[in-house]
Amino acid sequence: MDRTSVINAYKRYANIYDHVFGWIFHPGRMRSVEQMRCQTGDSVLEVGAGTGLSLPLYPPDVVIIGIDISPHMLSKAKILSERDGLENVAFAVADAQLLCFPDNTFDKVVAMYVASVVPDPQTFVAEIKRVCKPHGDIFFVNHFSHTNIWVRQFERFLTLFSHILGFRTDLSLDAFISQNQLIVKEITPINLFGYWSMVHAIND
Ligand SMILES: C[S@@+](CC[C@H](N)C(=O)[O-])C[C@H]1O[C@@H](n2cnc3c(N)ncnc32)[C@H](O)[C@@H]1O
Repeated sequence: MDRTSVINAYKRYANIYDHVFGWIFHPGRMRSVEQMRCQTGDSVLEVGAGTGLSLPLYPPDVVIIGIDISPHMLSKAKILSERDGLENVAFAVADAQLLCFPDNTFDKVVAMYVASVVPDPQTFVAEIKRVCKPHGDIFFVNHFSHTNIWVRQFERFLTLFSHILGFRTDLSLDAFISQNQLIVKEITPINLFGYWSMVHAIND
């Protein structure tokens, strides 16, 4: 998957995203924001904020920056934040693989359902670690390849269509953790049948 196919896929999804992926992904969004245990004045970076469905879940005294590579998804997030009067949120169209923030900027960084969409997950994680403060909290919510061999084979097959689907289904959790040298605090199965995972890591 490359940058152009991601932008095109999410241009197609923008108008239907909330109906198709809104409810199914929502427990993961709620659980992550809950587990972030945000304190007054915390700065949070939401990477791949999409249509902004998680934004109303944050306490109002937290500053949130939502970035996304898709202007179409982000324009939906702006409409939602205006509708809900969210004054603590700012947006930027930006690539998670080349973040436009200085080192050690955010108390917490979260990327929900993004790791299997970005073309290069290692650069994506390196950028997240760079902009997160030392010992800050990093959360990934994602589907990782299944432990059952038959399901895994099917997921590999689906990956042939990832440029159309707009996501891959074959990201290995073990490889994701080891290649990115994540200091994992907790891994929680999430959403339907625990098919997705929430990975809470502490920045080095
Ligand atoms: C499956 S959606 C998840 C949206 C949202 N986090 C949610 O909970 O519904 C993936 C999002 O990641 C964004 N994305 C993909 N690659 C990106 C990149 N390199 N930089 C920033 N955002 C990216 C897509 O545009 C899309 O909005």
